[in-house]
Amino acid sequence: MLCENIQRDAGGGLRFAGFPLRALAEKYGTPLYLMDEERLRQNCRMYVRAFQEQFGEKGRVLYAGKAACFKQMLRLADEEGLGLDAVSVGEIRTALAAGFPPEKIFFHGNGRTAADVRAGLEAGVGIFVADNAEELELLQREAALAGKRQKILLRITPGIDTHTYAAVRTGQVDSKFGFPLETGQADEAVKTALSLPNLELRGLHCHVGSQVFDEDVFERTVDVMTAYMARLRARFGWLPELLDLGGGYGVRYTEADKPADIPGRIALVAQRLRQRCKELELPLPTVLMEPGRSIVADAGMTVYSVCSVKRIPGYKSYVIVDGGMGDNPRYALYGAAYTVLHAERTGGEEAVFELVGRCCETGDVVQPQVRLPADTKAGDLIAVCTTGAYNYSMASNYNRYPRPPVVLLSKAGDRLAVRRETPEDVLALDV
Ligand code: LLP
Repeated sequence: MLCENIQRDAGGGLRFAGFPLRALAEKYGTPLYLMDEERLRQNCRMYVRAFQEQFGEKGRVLYAGKAACFKQMLRLADEEGLGLDAVSVGEIRTALAAGFPPEKIFFHGNGRTAADVRAGLEAGVGIFVADNAEELELLQREAALAGKRQKILLRITPGIDTHTYAAVRTGQVDSKFGFPLETGQADEAVKTALSLPNLELRGLHCHVGSQVFDEDVFERTVDVMTAYMARLRARFGWLPELLDLGGGYGVRYTEADKPADIPGRIALVAQRLRQRCKELELPLPTVLMEPGRSIVADAGMTVYSVCSVKRIPGYKSYVIVDGGMGDNPRYALYGAAYTVLHAERTGGEEAVFELVGRCCETGDVVQPQVRLPADTKAGDLIAVCTTGAYNYSMASNYNRYPRPPVVLLSKAGDRLAVRRETPEDVLALDV
């Protein structure tokens, strides 16, 4: 199986985190998001341990809340000792409601309004990450109005291209994110930030992409960033205390994806950092990373019921489920691959189906070309694996379908983390 939390009973019934899907579907209905709490904690601990081993006191892990943001998830991240990378007031509000310590929140964003900045300042977030020149001015203005000296990082675009989906590539010089090194805008930003009285420049941030499998992308980032640190010292007599390398480690969506040895990769990044700092005679900065996907993806699964099976002889066959691009837009957006399993039986004759949803457009494909039992029929349960990242968080009400609930599974049992939306919820904002 793709991940150890997916198993089959002797009778063919699928279990996730030890729980039979049929029973969960009967209790909570479908479509249904499941999250394996043990796996979430293991993934958090894997990062915290690797950082502790490699950087000791000088390492911090932030959970990138954009991957899956709801109160119980953020509470869990806090319990496991992670800080939070938040990108909106909505994520910050969720964190505060979960009791997340505001000083452990890093507030990112590339298009913040004055109201956003004010809300962040009022919440007492630990660090703002400034993304562009207007934002620096805005942060200075609002911090001055609030009578605060706000700690900030500058987001730098290191000019590194990763081999991932175009929509999630962020390190290249023409990115909408960050101050590019290449054009001199990063230098200007450092100079400005150092001169602004209500901002305290504590370090640099960068993030080069997501679902990244390139072997040495973080090492190359370390090369660029340490060389830049040396240049900043020479030019401005300033050195960052914090170096945030962003998120991005890839996860396994299908058997074809290699398992990523994240602790091994972090050890290589640490080794490269120590080497470069030694060569350039730089003090070791405190190192941060902001994983999202690799914390939550394989802790998630989506369960659907089949609404109908449409066979067009000589052409295609479709399995139409009671969800779709509303709860998982990732195939429609990125052509993202997923592993799809029949949740009730295996073996026997198989056929190839398009797994599609019930939104009113042809692009509503959850996954093309999936092998399922040839006799798949209405009422059967279908599981899509590894949906913990960027599924719930990107879900929409397209066609006014209510969004599914999120159920956490743990040794203590199953419990709701987010209840199912109702048609009344969807209607509630109409005036
Ligand atoms: N830090 C920053 C500044 C980011 O922009 C991101 C992701 C992360 C950390 C977390 O990266 P991760 O470890 O999750 O790869 N919706 C897309 C993914 C967008 C990622 C955006 N930024 C998807 O469904 O694949």
